[in-house]
Amino acid sequence: MIGIFDSGVGGLTVARAIEQLLPDHSLTYYGDIAKTPYGPKSPETIIKYSIHNTEFLLDKGAELIVIACNSASSVATETLRKRFHVPILEVISPAAQRAIQTSKNGRIGVIGTRATIKSGVYEKKITAERPDCTIFQVACPLLVPLVEEDWLNKRETKMILRRYLHPLKNKQIDTLVLGCTHYPLLKNLIQARIGKKVNLIDSSIETAHYVKDFLIRNPSVISKSKDATHRYYASDSTEAAIQVAKRIFSRPVELIVI
Ligand code: DGL
Repeated sequence: MIGIFDSGVGGLTVARAIEQLLPDHSLTYYGDIAKTPYGPKSPETIIKYSIHNTEFLLDKGAELIVIACNSASSVATETLRKRFHVPILEVISPAAQRAIQTSKNGRIGVIGTRATIKSGVYEKKITAERPDCTIFQVACPLLVPLVEEDWLNKRETKMILRRYLHPLKNKQIDTLVLGCTHYPLLKNLIQARIGKKVNLIDSSIETAHYVKDFLIRNPSVISKSKDATHRYYASDSTEAAIQVAKRIFSRPVELIVI
């Protein structure tokens, strides 16, 4: 079974993409809604929460863990890989890889939470393979609460986006990494503000392809089950979380609170 965790419901963008690409695989999701958001928290705290989330999924029988959260992927991946003996996949490498392949002029923007941007992980991964690239990073801490409030089409959200993207506008970027689980829900607004010539990289889609490729290369990691089950656990349930989950799946999602 594939175990997926996130700080809340944003990681359902990743879970949904995985479900669409791998419909025959069982999947268990854990959203740490009680402690969301992770983005403004310290690396030590995010690591502690990530260990707990991984243990929960392993208890449920996960054979592979996907860290469906950019903030947790940025700071906790190494610790989880040292501590647990199942494959730990994360959302940064697939998105960074796609950015490397996509950018022609080597000028790449990255937007994400404070934790992700402060870690510099996208810049490190991209420039390690393509030293010719220049990375322009912007932390956008207000976007997660706006998405959680379902303010997807509000004037205020457009204004805030314009302000965040302004520093990237004159940098001639040709690629922009959406380095946060929530940003796919703002894709159209972001595209309109950054310009249609800029390629947006959606880390949820890239991660789903990465998981699929990984399982093709390592088929023995996951034991085959006859009926694929999809379960979504959470450490709390809020009205906002239920709405975001519904928006991501275009249908109501049952969150099992533990
Ligand atoms: N899941 C987080 C991320 O992708 C966004 C929400 C949070 O800050 O917890 O970075």
